[in-house]
Amino acid sequence: MLEMRDVCVSFKSERQEKIFGHTRQQVLFDISFQVKKGICLGVLGESGSGKSTMGRVLCGLLKPDRGETILDGVSVYGSRTGRKNLQNKLSVVFQDYTTSANPRFRIRDIIGEGLTVRERREEVRLNREAETAQLLKLVGLPTEFEGRFPHELSGGQLQRVCIARAVACRPEVILFDEAISSLDAHTQVQVMDLLRELKEKMGLTYIFITHDLTSVTYLCDEVLFLYKGRITEHLPTGQIGRTKDPYARSLLESIIVFDTKEQEI
Ligand SMILES: Nc1ncnc2c1ncn2[C@@H]1O[C@H](COP(=O)(O)OP(=O)(O)OP(=O)(O)O)[C@@H](O)[C@H]1O
Ligand SMILES: [Mg+2]
Repeated sequence: MLEMRDVCVSFKSERQEKIFGHTRQQVLFDISFQVKKGICLGVLGESGSGKSTMGRVLCGLLKPDRGETILDGVSVYGSRTGRKNLQNKLSVVFQDYTTSANPRFRIRDIIGEGLTVRERREEVRLNREAETAQLLKLVGLPTEFEGRFPHELSGGQLQRVCIARAVACRPEVILFDEAISSLDAHTQVQVMDLLRELKEKMGLTYIFITHDLTSVTYLCDEVLFLYKGRITEHLPTGQIGRTKDPYARSLLESIIVFDTKEQEI
């Protein structure tokens, strides 16, 4: 349903490498892959490997130099309809929940942002109060939180609010960029359990960007390894142990395996 074809991205650089006649540094090289409906695709790679850049291309924020992103047969950057199609179907959750939630907004307004998107798309007026209460319940938060401000919540609670905002617009795909990385290990597991539950309930497709192999084995069906802007592997999570990718191997050597998911690694 979602596909990247030969995507290349470069940024202006201080370094003296000439690409397309300018001094640019290439960050992504011919990225091609498909995400099947209903799966969770993990994107793993060390810092600076190009994960977030790829995420920005995927969610319509960055037009690649070359190549395309296709959602349900429609090219995202090809036309205005393509962009609109994407906005209607894809939500994003970022790592930094403290800045992605406006500190002056109450929780109900933060979730309301997602509801507004849905109202606009479906041309309906929603019962905001009821929807907000339902969404808070869905992500495991008390409904009384709706009147609070972001600083009155813990990191894990606020990230749940951001997840509620992401699902409020009823997307088909959610892109997570290091969305749980700054939470403590226990909270990470709780949030991942919530994500699994939501995925089942709402038939969602996930793209889960992280540098943490443990969360990939816990949550993802497939994994894509990114190394210096290139995909080095794309395989089912269960076969991760067979990878020959050197970066993946070095991660594997330091992994702690969750015993709740019986996998041979
Ligand atoms: N807007 C930009 N202008 C110039 N260079 C950029 C820009 N955005 C990213 N880069 C460069 O692209 C490379 C990849 O960055 P990116 O943020 O995609 O990495 P990442 O894999 O998400 O890393 P991390 O795990 O640290 O988040 C880096 O070398 C970065 O400096
Ligand atoms: Mg990043």
